[in-house]
Amino acid sequence: MVKIDATWPHSHYKYIIQYSGLNLSLIFCWKGYPMQTKVQVIFYSMFGHIYKMAEEIVKGVQLVSDVEVEIFRVPELVPDTILEKSGAKAAQEAFSHIPIATVDHLADADAIIFGTPTRYGNMCAQMRNFLDQTGGLWMKNALAGKVGSVFASTGTQHGGQETTITSFHTTLFHLGLIVVGVPYAEAGLTNMNEITGGTPYGATTLAGAKGDRQPSENELTIARYQGKHVADITKALKLGRESMQQMKKPLDY
Ligand SMILES: Cc1cc2nc3c(=O)[nH]c(=O)nc-3n(C[C@H](O)[C@H](O)[C@H](O)COP(=O)(O)O)c2cc1C
Repeated sequence: MVKIDATWPHSHYKYIIQYSGLNLSLIFCWKGYPMQTKVQVIFYSMFGHIYKMAEEIVKGVQLVSDVEVEIFRVPELVPDTILEKSGAKAAQEAFSHIPIATVDHLADADAIIFGTPTRYGNMCAQMRNFLDQTGGLWMKNALAGKVGSVFASTGTQHGGQETTITSFHTTLFHLGLIVVGVPYAEAGLTNMNEITGGTPYGATTLAGAKGDRQPSENELTIARYQGKHVADITKALKLGRESMQQMKKPLDY
């Protein structure tokens, strides 16, 4: 008869084989596969720059084994007539296939990477509106202990890249997320050969005052690094917690 001992950590299985005729029992251990680490990328984009960065973040996450990534966009709030006038309607067609984010879904993630264009040095209203629906999750500490990270886009070089990201971090801290940025191990952060986005707080791009500049190779590289970095850290955290058998309640450190 084979019995599985369920008291062991769920990344390991203990099989007990009993041969009752000889009254013999044999015990051996089996290292099982760890649970998948789940990363969500959640963005808003009006003219496509943040969407392009989000795609690169996803590619970076995909470089890490045993990590799955999902991408969502937050709902639009601007009336159709204004979107059409500004050209945003046409630009948003390129990512209309991306599913709409819901706040309840956030609880399924181990890490959430948020992308927002700058609005007067802050996150956009669409993202703010989305985050303002997380009160129920906050009450339950449902996001506490997860990893959070932010990337951004501005029109101009000094238009608020850092303030957009670091002011976004304040909300993540309130929700209990562990905030991760981009270390200077990514050499693109020190690139002085061109005008470029990229901050230690998170990847950024410069859209240009008229939105006609596209994310550069340097900026896309930093975005991929951020995705991989968040995935690496989250996976390590998850495996560590699993081995401590504290998966179910991340707050019980
Ligand atoms: C209402 C509004 C406010 C903006 N505020 C800023 C700003 O403070 N600094 C800046 O550099 N760009 C600003 N921009 C430009 C956007 O940040 C830019 O269009 C965006 O980063 C492009 O990203 P997207 O294509 O993903 O929408 C603003 C744009 C709008 C519509």
